[in-house]
Amino acid sequence: MGLFDRYGGTVKLWLGPIFSLLLSDVSDLEVVLGGTQLLEKADEYDALKRWLNEGLLVSRGRKWFARRKVLTPAFHFKILEQFVEIFDRQARQFVQSLQVALQSKRDVVHLVDYIHLCALDVICVLGILAASAAFVSLLIYHLKYKHIIEVTKNIPSPPSLPLLGHGHHFVGKAPHKLVATIQEFMDVYAKGKTLKIWLGPELNFLMADPKDIEVVLGTTRFNDKAGEYKMLEPWLREGLLVSRGRKWHKRRKVITPAFHFKILDEFVDIFEQESRVLLTNLQREHQQSVNLYDWINLCTMDTICETAMGVSINAQTNVDSEYVRAVKTISMVLHKRMFNIFYRFDWTYMLTSLARAEKRALNVLHNFTEKIIVQRRAELLRSISESPVQHDDVDMGTKRKMAFLDILLQSKIDDKPLTNLDIREEVDTFMFEGHDTTSSAIMFFFYNIATYPECQRKCVEEIVSVLGRDTKTPVTYELLNKLHYVDLCIKETLRMYPSVPLLGRKVLEECEINGKIIPAGTNIGIAPLYLGRCENLFSDPNTFKPERFDVVTSAEKLNPYAYIPFSAGPRNCIGQKFAMLEIKAIVANVLRSFEIDFVGDASEPPVLIAELILRTKDPLMFKLKERVY
Ligand code: HEM
Repeated sequence: MGLFDRYGGTVKLWLGPIFSLLLSDVSDLEVVLGGTQLLEKADEYDALKRWLNEGLLVSRGRKWFARRKVLTPAFHFKILEQFVEIFDRQARQFVQSLQVALQSKRDVVHLVDYIHLCALDVICVLGILAASAAFVSLLIYHLKYKHIIEVTKNIPSPPSLPLLGHGHHFVGKAPHKLVATIQEFMDVYAKGKTLKIWLGPELNFLMADPKDIEVVLGTTRFNDKAGEYKMLEPWLREGLLVSRGRKWHKRRKVITPAFHFKILDEFVDIFEQESRVLLTNLQREHQQSVNLYDWINLCTMDTICETAMGVSINAQTNVDSEYVRAVKTISMVLHKRMFNIFYRFDWTYMLTSLARAEKRALNVLHNFTEKIIVQRRAELLRSISESPVQHDDVDMGTKRKMAFLDILLQSKIDDKPLTNLDIREEVDTFMFEGHDTTSSAIMFFFYNIATYPECQRKCVEEIVSVLGRDTKTPVTYELLNKLHYVDLCIKETLRMYPSVPLLGRKVLEECEINGKIIPAGTNIGIAPLYLGRCENLFSDPNTFKPERFDVVTSAEKLNPYAYIPFSAGPRNCIGQKFAMLEIKAIVANVLRSFEIDFVGDASEPPVLIAELILRTKDPLMFKLKERVY
């Protein structure tokens, strides 16, 4: 201090070759300490580096800045509030130590030593807390999520790790192992009710109690889809499956009439026609074991293209077409994004070659749909101008059937026609929802009846009695509706192997479901795959027993919120009747022509992968024999 008294507010010092300035003027101090220009520490601090390395006190530049940002919340008043307990405990210890010193009748007590020890104790405790960034983050995490953790504490969950939550149970696991893991957690911890899963900061509830499911699916209150559906947005944008709020509501209203039975009736011709092409392909394959799924998938792709857009892409005869390849690329992209953590986050995914492949495929898919929409709109305008009176039931100037697209072109929302983009979203949604789902169901149907030959025999018996012995007789809407036993077999297949194994909703506002508090932001998962195998909901759940669905003969009481392969409530599958008819048409035509055997070990159930659509780890292989009557 004397230096300043003698030489003024700023003192220049040379210590050998080292030049220093000592400042005391507050306006100078403000410049040095108040900005971020002079953040580097003086060389004297280097002595501390052997101990502190590059801790906050001695670090510099970007490192200091980043660390400071991370550590600042650790001194938030809410955290300090918790530290007061430590200060209090150590202060009491300090007083006790002074009392001991006084009792030993020492004349002089070096207060500084005691204060020093007390401060050391305090800082040791705090230091342990603060030294680890992970631990500090954990505290922040706890504070931010304190409420959520508190209100959900009674929901059972498997053991978790700080920050990661339950992520370590899932990350890096092969996709087929995930199904078994979830099943085990539900059985062991949730006992078939509700399971809590933290994936990092994201809270998920898996629900399996039909009473809870009824609350979630039974109204439009929980209409928003979970985060996973975002992966579909590049393709489907805001199509019905992923849209929300008023948009979903209005679209659902205009699309519903497109599934009227009169329209479905007309589509049966297309199912008939395309399943005949499938038969021709299978005829060629029937000497060897065949991966039925691949052929069925091409057939359902043809069917949905024709019904949704009114055009044939001939996928079954031209496997290598650009459009077919693009659809397959998107399916592959969705699979990879679902199970690879690196692909899950947009900011890492965007850098990958997969993202580029997706972009190319999307170009093909969007351009194709758009081209058809433009053509059909022009045709529609032409036919209206040619016969303006009866344009309510326009047949596009040709004898072509109405496709979904035509119905959408004639629909209005708020008195305005749908734009090309609106229609593209919906047509693309049909393309996605309407072909992998049905092919998965058909493949598992064949697997079930191949492994339960008595059921196959009964199906064939019924098909022959309804359609006759002449395999050329076409299937019709009325005839398909008479296939009662086949219907039961499809329902039972969808119980054991639901094409959509998991549904997800996002809770936007904190709410209560049957006594459970569900915090805002929680994802609710409902797994038709799990429900279908619950012993308390279905007796002998791993056995294929189509009769359980027979309302006349079955003693089993079906809970509509336990059997949900098409979901339930206002946001259920809009294409359910379409799907059932299509599946029936295809399986009836195949079974009339072929006996189906499963090639493989039927005593072991197929290993499943629960993507957006249910698949098997390895392809299911079949042998087809021409059916002799
Ligand atoms: C076996 C075949 C099918 C099954 C198992 C199935 C199942 C489902 C399920 C579970 C949902 C609800 C998804 C969710 O909430 O996240 C759904 C929605 C939907 N499905 Fe299907 N589906 C099938 C076939 C079809 C077909 C053939 C079409 C169209 C032709 C279709 C069109 C749709 C649409 C547009 C939605 C969205 C409905 C909405 O959100 O309002 N589905 N489907």
